[in-house]
Amino acid sequence: MKKLGVLLSGRGSNLQALIDASRRGELGGEIAVVVSNVEGAQGLERARKAGIPAVFRDHRAKKREAYDAEIVEIFRAHQVDLVCLAGFMRLLSPVFVRAFPGRIVNIHPALLPAFPGLDAQRQAFDHGVKVSGATVHLVDEGLDSGPIVAQEAVVVLSSDTPESLAARILETEHRLLPRAVRLLLEGRGRVEGRRVIVEEE
Ligand code: GRF
Repeated sequence: MKKLGVLLSGRGSNLQALIDASRRGELGGEIAVVVSNVEGAQGLERARKAGIPAVFRDHRAKKREAYDAEIVEIFRAHQVDLVCLAGFMRLLSPVFVRAFPGRIVNIHPALLPAFPGLDAQRQAFDHGVKVSGATVHLVDEGLDSGPIVAQEAVVVLSSDTPESLAARILETEHRLLPRAVRLLLEGRGRVEGRRVIVEEE
């Protein structure tokens, strides 16, 4: 069974989508461990409820590289094949990225390369785009800049607020992320330059 490690900082609704997919046998592997840099993160609680090892590691008062090396150790100890960032609110250092080359994915709430960084739903809303969406991409050493694994568009309605748009994008994320994780765990994604070539099921 392939093993997924999840890093998060908050609510963990995307983790929940992964847990639910795994229960349905639709993840292509199992969630081996969940790590958070925030002690009270709801995501840790969701992991514990699902019987998944849940680890809190404080990042404060630590150099980024030292912190990342600790997390790498945890994932290695759990024999993680793929790392998923599911609302992890920190940039990874090269130490981390190089430990899992091409084996880290992130979910971003906009259609990259538009609106990278924080608060992407509001950035898109404020820009007045008519279509936004969600992106799952491989993590490289830049900000939300790695090769794109999967995307889904969400139409922006005239009646939308940043919050209502974010809510519809979130529903999309919950469908998109488990699918993208599955295809990577099943080895159906091949990277060619910036492109991820997907072998369909
Ligand atoms: C999601 O919007 C995700 O795209 C972004 O952070 C948020 C995490 O939400 N990277 P949750 O913790 O999974 O509910």
